[in-house]
Amino acid sequence: LSFVVFSLATTLSLAEAKTPTLPEEKFLVIRASPETKEQLAMVRELHDNQHLHEIDFWLTPTKLRQKADMMIPENRKNWLTQILNAYNISSFVTIEDVQQLILEREHNPQKKKLLDISFSKRLKDEGGNRARYKFGDYGSYEEIVQWLESIERFYPDKAKVISIGTTAEGRAIKGIKIGTNVWRTDKRIVWVDAGIHAREWAAVHTGLYFIDRLIADYGTDPVVTKAVQNLNFYIIPVLNPDGYEYTRSDITPQIRLWRKNRSGITCKKDRWFRDRCCGGVDLNRNFDWFWGEIGSSNDKCSEIYQGNNAFSEAESRAVRDMIFSPEMRGKVDAFITLHTYSQMWIHPFSHQRKTVPEDIADIEQVGKRAVQALESTFGTQYRFGTGADILYPSSGGSDDWAKGKGGAKYAYLLELRPGEEVWDGFVLDSRQLIPTGKETWNGIKVVVQAVLDRL
Ligand code: ARG
Ligand code: ZN
Repeated sequence: LSFVVFSLATTLSLAEAKTPTLPEEKFLVIRASPETKEQLAMVRELHDNQHLHEIDFWLTPTKLRQKADMMIPENRKNWLTQILNAYNISSFVTIEDVQQLILEREHNPQKKKLLDISFSKRLKDEGGNRARYKFGDYGSYEEIVQWLESIERFYPDKAKVISIGTTAEGRAIKGIKIGTNVWRTDKRIVWVDAGIHAREWAAVHTGLYFIDRLIADYGTDPVVTKAVQNLNFYIIPVLNPDGYEYTRSDITPQIRLWRKNRSGITCKKDRWFRDRCCGGVDLNRNFDWFWGEIGSSNDKCSEIYQGNNAFSEAESRAVRDMIFSPEMRGKVDAFITLHTYSQMWIHPFSHQRKTVPEDIADIEQVGKRAVQALESTFGTQYRFGTGADILYPSSGGSDDWAKGKGGAKYAYLLELRPGEEVWDGFVLDSRQLIPTGKETWNGIKVVVQAVLDRL
């Protein structure tokens, strides 16, 4: 087995990765289940100082009986289990070797072959979108942009590739505008972005799936047809392309599970002369909504680094400048931002508990119906509420900003599959991608219908 892993690792062009890998570091995920208030407080304390403890929280509990999933380097395992044991918090290892899982799930040549066969089979009987994308698999940023461009070529009256900014590494942040007579700027708008967090690949795939539905189901699905005729969709499937490409560049957990963007990275040698790099901004802490106040950090090394100031980052500025541009300003009725994971449909405001917009009745009504539509697709269960109430409070999020300052009527942040009964988290089995797209789209269509109803 180890030979297989080794030969895979060497054939997967890992040598080209820009950041030196640290092969001696093995990562694992530990799941802890706090059951008393004291135990929960202990886990929250670990969460709040996670990077000092070298813990990467994949899942954070807010209530009793919710789970914590913590990724740690192997050399921290004894320390962490001692602490958990000292507090009598039950825990067990869910992923023995994160890198091994990444290899099996995402770099398995046999699986790739099976996928390719099913793609070519599907291509034959698929109608709809004449521009083809390999749904069910993860694509590079370049492949994604090329697909957007081919949609524009096939459907120039309905689709237009847009570029909303340039990242620190010089990539254009591209997206697609969809609507009949696509040059029109007088329609009400639905905004969708995904991939603001680099490692959340299933969110990117879901954003692409939405694009495909809008093109492929035009003329057959009545809601889609009406929406594409009467609204403009702005969809940015990879809002953080530097981060996305970084997470694709290597299988080591530190790289595959990177969350932030890639601006302002600086490296120092540690005492073993290994490169220790810090930097990158958590883009979902960088918006001007109670910026820097809670659930974010001013430490560059933290996973939730808020940046130097609100809108210090090209990606968040690109969103702001687009929403405030003459073509969009005051017209955005829905702002959907896609994340993974934990199966939650989150509405504003998330910077503080029990704080909601004044039109909460509408937000709740539409959101709950959307969750119902999503859940009834395959039975996937979602929770509904503000991030502060069902997850943890954090300020500087794009959803809250879009609602509070951008004037978006329906602003939702979705945490997609998996939920906590599955442990694979960000390294989702690719067979779950299309079902995730389908069920989420059914939820989103409820929001789109609500926007249409207001016309
Ligand atoms: N997991 C998301 C994050 O940490 C949740 C954000 C909820 N929304 C918010 N505005 N804080 O970015
Ligand atoms: Zn996220």
